[in-house]
Amino acid sequence: MASHTRRRILQGAALAAAGSVVGGYGGGHYAAAAQAATGRAADGGELPFLEGALAPVTEELTAFDLTVTGRVPRDLDGRYLRTGPNALGLEDPRAHHWMLGDGMVHGVRLRGGRAEWYRNRWVRSSGVARKLGETYPGRVPPDDFACNTHVIPYKGRIVALQEGGPLPYELDGELGTVRPYDFRRTLKGAFTAHTKYDAAADELHAVTYYPTWDHVRHLVVDGTGRVARTTRIPVADAPMMHDFALTRKYVVIVDVPITFDPAAADAGAPVPYVWNERHPMRVGVVPRSGGAARWFEIDPVYYSHTLNAYDQGHEVVVEYTSMPAPFHAAGRGSGGPSATGAPTLDRWTIDLRGGRVRGTRLDDLPQEFPRVNESLVSRRHRFGYTASAAEMWRAYETVDGVPPDEKFTNCLVKHDMARGTKEVHRFPKGAAASEPVFVPRRGARDEDDGYVLSYVNDPDRGATDLVVLSAQDFTGRPQARIQLPGRVPLGFHGSWVADR
Ligand SMILES: [Fe+2]
Repeated sequence: MASHTRRRILQGAALAAAGSVVGGYGGGHYAAAAQAATGRAADGGELPFLEGALAPVTEELTAFDLTVTGRVPRDLDGRYLRTGPNALGLEDPRAHHWMLGDGMVHGVRLRGGRAEWYRNRWVRSSGVARKLGETYPGRVPPDDFACNTHVIPYKGRIVALQEGGPLPYELDGELGTVRPYDFRRTLKGAFTAHTKYDAAADELHAVTYYPTWDHVRHLVVDGTGRVARTTRIPVADAPMMHDFALTRKYVVIVDVPITFDPAAADAGAPVPYVWNERHPMRVGVVPRSGGAARWFEIDPVYYSHTLNAYDQGHEVVVEYTSMPAPFHAAGRGSGGPSATGAPTLDRWTIDLRGGRVRGTRLDDLPQEFPRVNESLVSRRHRFGYTASAAEMWRAYETVDGVPPDEKFTNCLVKHDMARGTKEVHRFPKGAAASEPVFVPRRGARDEDDGYVLSYVNDPDRGATDLVVLSAQDFTGRPQARIQLPGRVPLGFHGSWVADR
């Protein structure tokens, strides 16, 4: 029997704005509350990134012995964690940008065939601590922010990540914030949300950017957990680099035409990065061991997320999700990004001998959040996993008036790159399936011998389930649906943090 304790932490008039634009998923309370906050009809899509499946939650919950449909595999011993923006205490919801919502991590502890607990916790930056009436311990780091983009295991720790400036935050096993994390005092300046961990080399790679830099940095964190090498790669216009790719030999830098705009920053734009027609789109290939980038100019596209990359003779292969140009990091009034089309799964084959990049559309089903068996990062893979959530894309496309793609449904997808086929696990309307994370079965030998974990809303229950699929029976009935006591808003990225 599920039991949980609720800790209501939003209180007081100062937080009324935040409290009034959030609410239960699919609940009638939500519509009335949103109206109160905006003075407009809640169904008008005025604040799409604060509504419906994207609406922040208002409470930190702790629940034990979660109800399970099916069986939790006994070899899943660890924590499934996923983070995302969850705005707290908004004074002006209409001035808010989705990507700047305070990071909240949602976690489920699995052990011995049981779902022991669920917790959701804001990352305690100085700003979050202040809004919660708590004391921030220690000195506040520069560019402090409640990291909202990724949460990863690293060297026995749990680390929440953000790009473009803020230090990572270390979390404890119950999602409490420990302290800013700077790789044993070796990280100087900005970090990233999308690292690549090469398990065979025991190296954590990052490509970092900062608005005032005239370069981006490739960082290698070695097996001792220290930033062992930094390579500065000159770039013009201070571009935003959300993700990159890694092979055994190369780092692939993606120089997209989304660049820092000082005028927008001066005007107070929450995300002062704009689509810059004058900035050429380039892909840079840098030797992992250091050295200069070799650049390839290509047609503009928004490079969103890397599935994986690998070397293939004299070629570098990168599989990724992208969106058509132009892509606006700060949509014109939407409170989040906006795009002119849906994301697709694509491949670049970079011919280092011939000096060309060949693009291939792998799948035009709108999809995002590509993941691979993490043990194969930088090595050739066969399988990839993605998510499709109509709810997120509707928010993106309201700005440009482009109707949501009918194909952008609710599903998880398993791709077989060797066969060029896919399997689709569908969920009902309103499911808002989030990033699928592959976890190998204990003793697995095959690449896809394991589980795919994802938070999926149950609209009937008005709450979210942690869904566990068998990766080798992808379209079959889930092995387990673990009922969480609340809703997990559609967010960003996460990880399986194994206990052993
Ligand atoms: Fe991302």
